[in-house]
Amino acid sequence: MTTTTANVLRSAYQESVAAYWNNNRQDSVNLLLGDVDGIYHHHYGVGDYDPSVLDGPAGTRDDRVIAELHRLETAQADVLLDHLGDVRPTDRLLDAGSGRGGGSVMANMRFGCEVDGVSISEYQVEFANEQARKRGVSDQVRFHFRNMLDTGFDGASRKAIWNNESTMYVDLFELFAEHSRQLRFGGRYVTITGCYNDVTGGRSKAVSRIDEHYTCNIHPRSAYFKAMAANRLVPMHVIDLTSATIPYWELRAKSPVATGIEESFLTAYREGSFHYLLIAADRV
Ligand SMILES: C[S@@+](CC[C@H](N)C(=O)[O-])C[C@H]1O[C@@H](n2cnc3c(N)ncnc32)[C@H](O)[C@@H]1O
Repeated sequence: MTTTTANVLRSAYQESVAAYWNNNRQDSVNLLLGDVDGIYHHHYGVGDYDPSVLDGPAGTRDDRVIAELHRLETAQADVLLDHLGDVRPTDRLLDAGSGRGGGSVMANMRFGCEVDGVSISEYQVEFANEQARKRGVSDQVRFHFRNMLDTGFDGASRKAIWNNESTMYVDLFELFAEHSRQLRFGGRYVTITGCYNDVTGGRSKAVSRIDEHYTCNIHPRSAYFKAMAANRLVPMHVIDLTSATIPYWELRAKSPVATGIEESFLTAYREGSFHYLLIAADRV
């Protein structure tokens, strides 16, 4: 498939999402954290932080806090990979909405198999391919400027597919229809996502502020299960990671890479209007 901006970006909204990530080149949160070990994440973290990173000499405090935030983000990616099931070196995986590619590289390191990542940001695709080249895995880990709603990859070609914090940019019915097409029978789908709480009602103010900040459209929790059920994806694990991610946001709020959105996440999680969820489903 020839990929051009015109056939990858299909709406003014997708163009604005791509522009956001293309213009987000000097973002200190993701670059400084990724520089710790060359694994570049664009997602949040889980687990308790070590409070001692906030003590000690002021001159090295920032570096310690950054390394700790990065450790929690890597722990989040590990939780996602833990749920991909029995992946063999001969399997092929798809990282849908792959950012700067850290998750795909980690999957290749763990399973030794081929991984394709797709992003609608040409800048991110180039950055991620460069990382794969530097690590000497570009024959196994490849990033593509493609739309995850229409990747062009073969049907039933994937043992597992995941979205790490990238479902809030798309219609879930369209997304899961495409995943279902690409997954083989018995294949695994995993997402980690923020979603709003149907029980407390519609989008809270804090959730709306997060949408506005990231140009995204956070879905209600129920939407995930409706769209999975409509697309032959049967949930196997549903894990509420909300309490596990709060410490990350508390540390980030005290860090040199705070962007100002930290308080909205903390408010939304603490008031119960927003969850941080892992859902793993089997393709039947
Ligand atoms: C918050 S980042 C997550 C990146 C990555 N999954 C990670 O965990 O580091 C969201 C990603 O979704 C991608 N994205 C948004 N809409 C997309 C679409 N329709 N097709 C492919 N990628 C998309 C963006 O380009 C960006 O890379």
